[in-house]
Amino acid sequence: MNGPADNEANNGWHWDRYWQADRLSACLADTATGNYAQAIRTGWAAFFEPFPDGARLLDIGTGNGAVPLIARETAVQAGRRFEIHGVDRADIDPARFVHATPGALADIHFHGRTSAESLPFPDRHFDGLTGQYALEYTDPASSVRELARVAKPGARLRFVLHAEGATPVAGAARGLAEIAFLTEELRILDKARVLMRAAFAFEQANAFDTRLEDEARKAREQYLAAARAADARYPGAGSKALFSEILDGVRAAWDHRRNFTLDYILTGLDRIDQETRAHAARLEDMRRAALSREELAALATLLREKGFGGVRTGELRAPEDARLLGWELQAALT
Ligand SMILES: C[S@@+](CC[C@H](N)C(=O)[O-])C[C@H]1O[C@@H](n2cnc3c(N)ncnc32)[C@H](O)[C@@H]1O
Repeated sequence: MNGPADNEANNGWHWDRYWQADRLSACLADTATGNYAQAIRTGWAAFFEPFPDGARLLDIGTGNGAVPLIARETAVQAGRRFEIHGVDRADIDPARFVHATPGALADIHFHGRTSAESLPFPDRHFDGLTGQYALEYTDPASSVRELARVAKPGARLRFVLHAEGATPVAGAARGLAEIAFLTEELRILDKARVLMRAAFAFEQANAFDTRLEDEARKAREQYLAAARAADARYPGAGSKALFSEILDGVRAAWDHRRNFTLDYILTGLDRIDQETRAHAARLEDMRRAALSREELAALATLLREKGFGGVRTGELRAPEDARLLGWELQAALT
């Protein structure tokens, strides 16, 4: 578990840009809907199904509203209407950025820049409290205290939490290794900067200069050697997204460099660098958020101490191949 991460530097909260894009779930997305795959959806639909018409629900760490959308769909299928709120520390605006379900998202009350540790709602307000890969990102003592405060007596709660060794967490560890390989071992963006500077110096010199030509050629060779090493290490399409983002970005900057100033090109490379760092920060968040079995038990104890009863924990596994997807935690305010 971690407290609020401290990686906001000068580029905002590292989840801001992630959610200011047309995507619904943080991981495990179904390719057809963009929302969570069935293994995750089923548990949420079963949780939301018993809530009566008019129930008021709160989803913390909501991202672009993956869980609120499942709540809404469940209500619509049952001919009911829920009042659904989603909060996130990130600067979210799902109805603006997610195109697949604009009407449905407009029906949900989203509160960006809102931490679970300090909820802007009255006491005893909600019938249901949820979070998908969310509670474990927060400071648990403060957020559980807030959840207990805003829950009505009898309110039900369900959280899906990252588990050590589970599929998404293992993916995060692989992603971090890829980023370290690209940025620390190959130093690909540093080499791209050297290349651009050298190419501009040579191409914009007043007269042909063999020393500048030689430097530009060497810088190009060094960059291309790093790019080939990147390609050779990750030939499989699955893990290439990050590689392509960086390599294609540099290639585009190179191809179009004559239309732009060096400053503009270097700013573009800085942007790629910032995106890569934000991606690493999110993966690092996930890795640190993952709970061991003992940490899950401690969270269950915390809920009991704050007045929740019927606390149940368990493993959430994919039905098709039994992969561990996370922990499941349920309770009700007594
Ligand atoms: C892994 S994402 C999950 C988002 C969404 N629940 C989903 O499953 O698609 C974790 C989210 O928690 C948010 N978050 C992290 N710490 C938070 C906090 N203290 N309060 C509220 N949200 C937080 C992040 O901004 C991020 O959007």
